[in-house]
Amino acid sequence: MKVLVIHGPNLNLLGRREPEVYGRQTLEEINALLEAEAARLGVEVSFYQSNHEGEIVTAIQGAADDCDALIINPAAYTHTSVAIRDALAAIGLPALEVHLSNLYRREEFRHRSLTAPACVGVISGFGPLGYLAALRLVPELASPGEFL
Ligand code: DQA
Repeated sequence: MKVLVIHGPNLNLLGRREPEVYGRQTLEEINALLEAEAARLGVEVSFYQSNHEGEIVTAIQGAADDCDALIINPAAYTHTSVAIRDALAAIGLPALEVHLSNLYRREEFRHRSLTAPACVGVISGFGPLGYLAALRLVPELASPGEFL
């Protein structure tokens, strides 16, 4: 199984960006955590980060030919991007949306996700563990059993 993890805008600053909200782990550290877990699960994982909406759309489209599932933190584009939502809907791969922070404990403008309806589900509020949980769910998505 191949999984692409997409990190949206400003997530390249993790570690020094509002650590009280997003924690102290850098993006590289989070990716390394996922890499180790992927090896354990026997899943192939790759990573993409961009601060640009169109580039994220292109990465999602590219995953259609190459991957079995997506894990995406669209970051601020969660709340604004019809283009990312449409790309997720268009490719028909299972996608899991992850947020480090709990969107529902934050400002009201973060309560609405335009991208979530194009995803299988959302994990929000568990920091880097949310990405790990999403990765563990991926094999389940590939062969839905009793619980999905
Ligand atoms: C975020 C939450 C978004 O509202 C915010 O714009 C981000 C990060 C999170 O991971 O908690 O950049 O997606």
